[in-house]
Amino acid sequence: MRRPSTVYLYELAWILPSIAIPVGMLAALIVTAFGAGIHVPGDAGRVDPTQLAATAPFDQPGVVEVGPGRYEARMVAGIWSFAPNEIRVPAGSTVTFVATSRDVVHGLFIPRANLNVMLLPGQVSRVTARFPQPGEYPFLCHEYCGIAHHTMWGKVVVEPRS
Ligand code: CUA
Repeated sequence: MRRPSTVYLYELAWILPSIAIPVGMLAALIVTAFGAGIHVPGDAGRVDPTQLAATAPFDQPGVVEVGPGRYEARMVAGIWSFAPNEIRVPAGSTVTFVATSRDVVHGLFIPRANLNVMLLPGQVSRVTARFPQPGEYPFLCHEYCGIAHHTMWGKVVVEPRS
């Protein structure tokens, strides 16, 4: 019987990983999307950015309880602040952020909650995060939006359960 040539073995050493790596990535994608339910924030609707003061729910920015332990934070971003810029919820809450921009492209980034979404004028962004631990979770704009971009921040205050 002939021994496989060295060239054949080298080729095999490249061919097998080049098949295994994409297959592994596809598997990771399927597990995270369908198993862990992780999705890219989708198109949650469109609004007229010049009419936010008269458009629900952005006419009343703030936090509302929508179920046991579930909250909705309705936020409007504009140069150079968030409304509201402080959100208070009890520990263990699940908060859905429904947000948009009234002028230019902004972002909503909550590093400690692994939440990151762009806020585009005319587009409603909807993204959910859980806040199991009490503490302060700063949020900030992470899309450069002008001269005072760096001042555009706020915080989620997660209060201990009484
Ligand atoms: Cu808003 Cu940067």
